Amino acid sequence: MTETTDAVRSRSSLEGKTAVVTGASSGIGRAIAEVFAADGADVVICSRTLDDVESVADELADLPGTVEPVEADVTDRDDVAALADATVDAFGGVDVLVNNAGGGAGMAPTDEVDPETWDGVVDVNLTGVYNVSTAFADALQSGSPSAIVNVASMAGEYGVENMSAYSAAKAGVIAFTRSLAREWAENDVRVNAVSPGFIATEKLREGFGLDEEIERANADRTWGTPAEVADLVRFLASDAASFVDGQSVRITGTPNTYEAP
Ligand code: NAI
Repeated sequence: MTETTDAVRSRSSLEGKTAVVTGASSGIGRAIAEVFAADGADVVICSRTLDDVESVADELADLPGTVEPVEADVTDRDDVAALADATVDAFGGVDVLVNNAGGGAGMAPTDEVDPETWDGVVDVNLTGVYNVSTAFADALQSGSPSAIVNVASMAGEYGVENMSAYSAAKAGVIAFTRSLAREWAENDVRVNAVSPGFIATEKLREGFGLDEEIERANADRTWGTPAEVADLVRFLASDAASFVDGQSVRITGTPNTYEAP
C-alpha cells in the first residue's frame, strides 16, 4: 500500500514529544534544543547554571515547542534525580533523552594528566551519561517507544593523542550505548550515539580563530556546524529511525578528512 505524505512526514517529526537535552546552554546542546523546539517538541534543557539555560529558553520562546530550563549538574545524582522528577511533573513523561553535556580538559600527554583531571573528564563525559540514563530509566521504559541519543565524539572512535581521558570516556559512551541498547530493547527504548568530528561551536571558533561562514552545500570540509549535528540527533530521536539501535553514527563530512584543523 502506498504511504500517505502525512505518515512519512510525521514519523520524522518530534512534534508533540517531550525531550530532555543535557548541557544545552551553548554549542551543540543549544542547537539540539533549538531544532527540537522548532519541530514542535517540548524540551527540558539543563546546565550547571540556571541563568545560562534560562537565557536559552528566552531566546527560543517563540518556537512551537515549550522550552523548560532546569539547573542540573550531570555529575550530581541528586540534581539528576530532580531533573527527572521535574520533567515528569511538567510533561507527564519523556520520549527522548539527549545526553550531550560534556567536554574536554585541554590537551596534555597522558603521564602529565593529574588524577583529578582524569576523574573529572570521565565523570562528566561517561559517568554523567550513566547517571542521567538511569535516572530516566522508568520514564523512558513506561510503555511507549522512546529514544536516547548520546553525544560521543570521533575522539572516542579514533583515540586522539594528548586527549586520552576524553577519548577513553567517549569510547566508553559508545560501548555504554551498545550495552544499554541491548538491555532496554525489550522495553522499546532505542539507544544510539553520534560521534562528531570538528564542530564549529562558539568556543571552538574562538579557540581556533575561525570566523568564516560554514556552507552546508559541500560535505568535503573539516568543520561542521552545531545545527548539522542537531539534525542527525533529531533523525535518531524520531520514529523514522525505528530500526536504528545501538549505533554510533559518525558525523565528520567526507570520509578521510578527520585531521586536526
Ligand atoms: P560546549 O562547551 O559549548 O557545551 C557543553 C555544554 O555542556 C554546556 O552547556 C555546558 O554548560 C554543559 N556542561 C558541561 N559540564 C556539565 C555538567 N557537569 N552538567 C551539566 N551540564 C554540563 O561544548 P560542545 O562542543 O557543544 O559540546 C557538546 C558535546 O559535544 C560534548 O559532549 C562534547 O564532548 C561533544 N563534542 C563536541 C565536538 C566539537 O567539535 N564541538 C566534537 C565531538 C563531540
